[in-house]
Amino acid sequence: MTRTLRRLLVGTTAAAIALVAVSVASAHSVLIATEPVADVVVDASPSRVLLRFDEPVDTGLGEALQVFDGSAQRVDAGRIERPTPREVVVPIDEELPDGTYTVAWRAISADSDPISGAFVFHVGERGANPAGVVPNVLDDSPPAVDVLFTGGRFFEFAFLLLCAGGVAALVFALRSADERVHRRLYGVLTACGGALAFWSLLGIPLQGAKAAGTGLAEGFTWDTISSVVGTRYGKVELIRAGLAVGLLAVALVLRRATGATRETANAAAAVLAAGLVATPPFAGHASTAGTLSVVADVAHVLAAAMWVGGLGFVVIALWLALEQRWPLATRAVPRFSMMAVVSVGVLLVAGTVNGYLQIRSWRGLWDTDYGLLLLAKIALVIPLLGLGAYNNKYAVPRLRAGVAQPGERRRFLQTAGVELGIMATIIAVTAVLVNANPARHALTEEAAAAAGHGHTPSGGGPVHAEVDFGEFAGMVMVEPGTPGANTITLQLDHSKPNVPDLAEVTFSATLAEPAVGPIVAEATQTVHGTWVAEDVQLTLPGSWDLRIEARVGEFDLFTENIQVQIGGTPE
Ligand code: HEM
Repeated sequence: MTRTLRRLLVGTTAAAIALVAVSVASAHSVLIATEPVADVVVDASPSRVLLRFDEPVDTGLGEALQVFDGSAQRVDAGRIERPTPREVVVPIDEELPDGTYTVAWRAISADSDPISGAFVFHVGERGANPAGVVPNVLDDSPPAVDVLFTGGRFFEFAFLLLCAGGVAALVFALRSADERVHRRLYGVLTACGGALAFWSLLGIPLQGAKAAGTGLAEGFTWDTISSVVGTRYGKVELIRAGLAVGLLAVALVLRRATGATRETANAAAAVLAAGLVATPPFAGHASTAGTLSVVADVAHVLAAAMWVGGLGFVVIALWLALEQRWPLATRAVPRFSMMAVVSVGVLLVAGTVNGYLQIRSWRGLWDTDYGLLLLAKIALVIPLLGLGAYNNKYAVPRLRAGVAQPGERRRFLQTAGVELGIMATIIAVTAVLVNANPARHALTEEAAAAAGHGHTPSGGGPVHAEVDFGEFAGMVMVEPGTPGANTITLQLDHSKPNVPDLAEVTFSATLAEPAVGPIVAEATQTVHGTWVAEDVQLTLPGSWDLRIEARVGEFDLFTENIQVQIGGTPE
């Protein structure tokens, strides 16, 4: 369980005394609205439970949405409906008696990470256990699955960097190594390709078990595997495994090939390595953060491969070269050093760009698990940069000139060993980082939780407000509640009798100081009783006056006015 998740649980448990809402979502796609609304008392038994996320989610795995009564018995119809890619619905066919009900959900978020959460609602009155049965129904996957899941990502990254960096080192830094060393290095590349294919394929059942919250054995069932293969993550894992097998085959050819065949095979290996480097951004956080993020991530992984995988192969080559070790070092180490200097520059710039795109605020850096993991990564890179600078200034010139003394050579190899150890630790931190909730989402989620309990967060965030039109009522949500394009949703309260069929819903937003608007947006009905207007440009921070006009039939117009805080709360 992540620290954010624990913090959220502790926070909501405290709030439960007063509010009795339980929210344990650890999400990358954020749950922004539910029907019934979390922790409200509804008068009548609802006919369905609806979840709405801020991004599309996948629900092909496990039990996506379940509703339990106070004794942890299922009360939903067991059929999942998807009115839109951002919405998940489970019908409730039976009439629910008064009491507290727990909704537990699991999905795969747009950035491929398994997410889950739970909340309660009450019918008629709060039940005997108004906190619901969350701990009983929201079991985490077994520790073995968690360890293998994160460990699998570590090995995938490690072997991917070795494969791509190994190809780069073989064609550039180690070009002048003798044939015997080359052949053995191609053997190492073959093994790395095989290991990468193995861990990529294993990633599919592991993702399935983690997403469905089941044991390892269930992950290997055909149903689970075919469901994961249907997701973007599964497809990327298959492509990666295919490229790795291709590289393995080319490396086998390279072991025997000479002359023109070797040149052609080297070019094929470079193309496959480039393909491998491009795979991570398409299954991770970068895939949902825009083109710049994808480009920066490709550059980051490429640079990391040249530096980490390249160093790994140079050290292996020196070890394999035996008595030729130091003559080879005079040629290979300076070339690798050039490769490393360029790579480090690209790595830092691209890493900073991606860090910014996933965090977006200073607070996100120290107030979220994601930010703290990134700080740990940066802290680990600092000694690496120091060691690299030291080697560049002292060891490399003396190795190039062939005047390094035995003690200096020993120190060079020891330093390289320490560098590889730190790099492995950075890869381990990265394996956790890519599964962590990006700071920008964690903060939105925090704000949504606060807004859900009737507060407008001071830093801006989704705004939820109850609206009463007299004959009927509902909720209005303004998301993300920050200056810029916002989505405004009116959700009618179906727990009340006689919910009308609305003919038209219009929102108009006005800011008094400075004077902006009215900005008028016509909403469209996505599911019965839910009206959404997207891309409403509330560009300035401040307290906006939002007028909601709901027309029933030809002539009956119902209106409500609410204040919506966009951005920070005014002093
Ligand atoms: C030896 C040093 C480093 C290595 C080997 C390394 C490796 C990686 C790898 C393999 C990924 C995964 C890419 C993906 O799944 O799409 C990644 C992601 C990332 N790295 Fe690094 N990195 C290093 C240093 C840095 C530094 C110095 C920074 C910050 C300035 C940084 C920031 C990031 C960020 C923000 C991500 C995106 C994580 C996400 O998907 O949310 N990295 N890195």
